[in-house]
Amino acid sequence: MEFSDCIRGRRSVRRFSDREIDRADIERIVDMARYSPSWKNSQTVRYHVVLDGGVKGEIARGGVCGFERNTKTIDSSRALVVVTTVTGICGYEPDGSFTTAKGAGWEMFDAGVACQSFCLAAHSLGLGTVILGIFDGDAIKARLNLPEGESVSALIALGYPRDPAKDAPPRKEVSELLSFI
Ligand SMILES: Cc1cc2nc3c(=O)[nH]c(=O)nc-3n(C[C@H](O)[C@H](O)[C@H](O)COP(=O)(O)O)c2cc1C
Repeated sequence: MEFSDCIRGRRSVRRFSDREIDRADIERIVDMARYSPSWKNSQTVRYHVVLDGGVKGEIARGGVCGFERNTKTIDSSRALVVVTTVTGICGYEPDGSFTTAKGAGWEMFDAGVACQSFCLAAHSLGLGTVILGIFDGDAIKARLNLPEGESVSALIALGYPRDPAKDAPPRKEVSELLSFI
């Protein structure tokens, strides 16, 4: 797939088909996502993939702050990727102080970069994704018994799209986004 087709053609997918995902394809996606840039190459992003339908259903109900749209999306997905970040590294100096005024904000920055790579890699393999930002990280962390030093940064619902791809939602013009100084 051409890079421009991949980046323009990726859409957030919220309805998925019943087709199973091959675990090898999830490994291929993470194999691509791991080449994302990160703070001092710290590579703190982790991917916990929930394939078990029962556990996924529990997160769909108890882990999305009552946001029904996300409940439906997770129920429809074939896998839920819980993207976490190992805390206390991105943005920090060895003595524990912050390197910049952005503080620990770089943790979410690295997670965002990795999520975009993950979604584009999935799209290149014909898989659909949607990043979900409305979730209860503490509830999910407790239910999945995730490592103490990790914080849930995002969820990604994953599966083969049920419907043909739609047009992209409107984008701002380049002239509104770009300035030269
Ligand atoms: C940080 C972030 C959080 C998001 N949270 C949600 C969400 O909770 N639920 C949802 O359905 N979509 C969510 N989205 C998807 C956006 O709505 C979607 O990317 C946007 O409408 C543009 O559509 P496109 O991805 O098809 O280009 C999120 C996207 C991002 C980047």
